[in-house]
Amino acid sequence: MAFNLFPRSDAGSPPSPACSSPSSDIDTPATGRSVLFDGSLNASLDNLHNQYILVTGGLGFIGSHTSLELLKSGYNVIIIDDLSNSFQTVFDRVRLLAQRYHQTQGTECPTLQLHDIDYRNIPALCTLLDNHKITSSWDSTERSSIIGVIHFAAFKAVEESIRQPLKYYSNNVSGLIDFTATLGTYGIKNFIFSSSATVYGTIANRGVPLKEEHCVHRPETFPGTNEMVEQGCTGITNPYGRTKWMCEAILADLAFSDPEWTIVALRYFNPIGCDESGLLGEDPKGVPTNLLPVVVKVMTGQYEQLSMFGTDWDTPDGTAVRDFIHVSDLARGHIAALATATKGELRENFRTFNLGTGDGNSVSDVVEAMETVSQRPIPTKAVGRREGDVGSCVAMAGRGQAELKWKTEKTLRDACKDIVNFLRVREEEEEQSLQRQGQGQRVPLAVAEVSS
Ligand SMILES: NC(=O)c1ccc[n+]([C@@H]2O[C@H](COP(=O)([O-])OP(=O)(O)OC[C@H]3O[C@@H](n4cnc5c(N)ncnc54)[C@H](O)[C@@H]3O)[C@@H](O)[C@H]2O)c1
Repeated sequence: MAFNLFPRSDAGSPPSPACSSPSSDIDTPATGRSVLFDGSLNASLDNLHNQYILVTGGLGFIGSHTSLELLKSGYNVIIIDDLSNSFQTVFDRVRLLAQRYHQTQGTECPTLQLHDIDYRNIPALCTLLDNHKITSSWDSTERSSIIGVIHFAAFKAVEESIRQPLKYYSNNVSGLIDFTATLGTYGIKNFIFSSSATVYGTIANRGVPLKEEHCVHRPETFPGTNEMVEQGCTGITNPYGRTKWMCEAILADLAFSDPEWTIVALRYFNPIGCDESGLLGEDPKGVPTNLLPVVVKVMTGQYEQLSMFGTDWDTPDGTAVRDFIHVSDLARGHIAALATATKGELRENFRTFNLGTGDGNSVSDVVEAMETVSQRPIPTKAVGRREGDVGSCVAMAGRGQAELKWKTEKTLRDACKDIVNFLRVREEEEEQSLQRQGQGQRVPLAVAEVSS
């Protein structure tokens, strides 16, 4: 199934949130394309009893791993992604891995769809949502077969957000307002939001693990004390972080105004690693800004060395300390949040959760672990602190463990091992492609045997 596309003349201006005249001619301000790849693995929309999870940004680093975990857990998944920072091949890989998983389990694989649209394109969104309206056979009421939304789509580069703040406020904040307003009109009110530890701002520098109560949207008493925590934020150091805080505040207000909403904001610490198959990984378009994709570029010879931003932080080895969490653990955190929310077991209808391990590792620790696992040297260069950074940022992970019944399982070493495997698979694929084109061979990446 494919929609026709007639590019708009005013592409780039913000789309209207009105759904009054949904059109089959889909316009896509950001990409200029619109194709629905119906990757249904078996059943289709014809089965009205099916329930779907809508995942925006589902082809990105975290979205692709979460979409896979959703499929493994039996949810049908509809991805909206404009491919601004991801590749369409990721869709085939998620589907393949889900199929393999269900084959080994002897279970039926749920359906998976991709809509290559900007999530801010409200007419296109309404067309999609209209296609998922179902009518109850016994009281004829209408509802949506989409039972929850996980919203990953956003821009995320801190430095770029300092240079181009409006780009970030438009995609991350304005987009969210129109998106939730539209979902609300379809009665889709289970919402999981990708937030970030950046909402803690410079509180991170106090050298204590960060608790959810360090950043609240209604006044609360800090646990174990009589200290009142005022709503608001402290020392958020860049526009990207502010977009995440603003989105949380908007969602908290929305949940307060309408108890039908159930909203979870998941505050990610530092996701790294990739699926152990080696078929999914962190593969951003353009210049990478997160630590591990840069390390990978050094390992593969694309960059000469790794710039260590700040070696004079108040940390044991002077390099910045972060709470690195394996992306597959992070993805499972979304499944736990979704299950808790859809069962009506959230303590409040807006709730924040840290997704971190509770342990900090320095940038030097990560480099060392990658060198050990890959048996490749990773040259580093000390450079000054990067604008918008903090020295340390580590989670207190207890709330997620207690209320979502979720905890991390994988280690930093597991993450490094999986990244090296991802690289090996990619090099093998490139090798095969070169051979098909009748070109020369390249030296393969040595992978150390590491017991996990
Ligand atoms: N990776 C991290 O370190 C990190 C940390 C904290 C929070 N987050 C948040 O998690 C979410 C996912 O991050 P990620 O690392 O997977 O990023 P990513 O860039 O890999 O994935 C985002 C995906 O969203 C898509 N996208 C962006 N704008 C869109 C739009 N308007 N319409 C449709 N698709 C759009 C991109 O093409 C991409 O596939 C983001 O909201 C990010 O802010 C990420």
